[in-house]
Amino acid sequence: MEQQLQQLKEEALKKIQDASDVKELNDVRVAYLGKKGPITDLLKGMGKLPAEERPKMGALVNVVRETVTEALESRMTLLEEAAIQAQLENESIDVTLPGRPAPAGNHHPLTRVVEEIEDFFISMGYEIAEGPEVEKDYYNFEALNLPKGHPARDMQDSFYISEDILLRTHTSPVQARTMEAKKGEAIKIICPGKVYRRDNDDATHSHQFTQIEGLVVGENIRMSDLKGTLDLFAKKMFGADREIRLRPSFFPFTEPSVEMDISCFKCGGAGCNVCKKTGWIEILGAGMVHPNVLKMAGYDPSVVTGFAFGMGPERIAMLKYGVEDIRHFYTNDIRFISQFNRTEA
Ligand code: DAH
Repeated sequence: MEQQLQQLKEEALKKIQDASDVKELNDVRVAYLGKKGPITDLLKGMGKLPAEERPKMGALVNVVRETVTEALESRMTLLEEAAIQAQLENESIDVTLPGRPAPAGNHHPLTRVVEEIEDFFISMGYEIAEGPEVEKDYYNFEALNLPKGHPARDMQDSFYISEDILLRTHTSPVQARTMEAKKGEAIKIICPGKVYRRDNDDATHSHQFTQIEGLVVGENIRMSDLKGTLDLFAKKMFGADREIRLRPSFFPFTEPSVEMDISCFKCGGAGCNVCKKTGWIEILGAGMVHPNVLKMAGYDPSVVTGFAFGMGPERIAMLKYGVEDIRHFYTNDIRFISQFNRTEA
């Protein structure tokens, strides 16, 4: 039996030495030290030996088991380290590999247009003012000379939250709010922001869109100031050889009121599909601030006057970039949005 044991040990040690990976070594362990392995068998068979031989043989089996276990463990450490090393080598980073390009984002076309308009007016000394999108009926209508029941309210079908609160239908309430806050001081602001109207969405209508309002209030503010400002604006946005034309119009909060057209930037005035053969393109509404509006905000219309204008950046972006459907601005199709990553406007 001693001999058998000796043979078993040598056999096991050889297999341990020969195991070339962790899995093979595990198989060796199960084969020799497992519950059904020969060493366990020998220990189990101990009872059949004569009593005087048992201690000696027991000690021998234990020594063999310990030797095999130790050999297994040290080989295991070795093989595990080798496995990690191999994995590290496999996974090493090839620094010469060209990196994956990180796609650079770009501004949304509407953001570009709004920022361009803001830059122009900031360069003219205007400040930017903002107001709430959930607005009081008072500021959205009443303070703009549109009392309850005024027929011009029908032009701006609204989302009401309660009888006195609604989603603002235009950015003009920021005029009233700013004047009220400035308490008689001179004002020169533009107000960009979102507005809402109960409209059925189609290629040219959206229930939510953007506006930019302008307001200048002070002594000796005249219609010619408005015209000069709009003329410079048209040239900046649509090209140095643009001309503007003011047509009489009506807004309850301005008197007189005008609509501003620019000479067509595509055909230069000859008539084409962009200007619908008229040579002119309508861009915005404007006028001299109505005395009632000044009065309601605490200004004295016999001392100060003002002009105001309001425009829709969607319309301007559609014209500038030839976008044929306003819904493109809101459907977030990356194929549309990513076309506007050129640096020139
Ligand atoms: N608030 C008007 C609208 O939404 C646009 C407008 C017209 C604003 C004339 C003005 C203005 O400030 O003077 O239709």
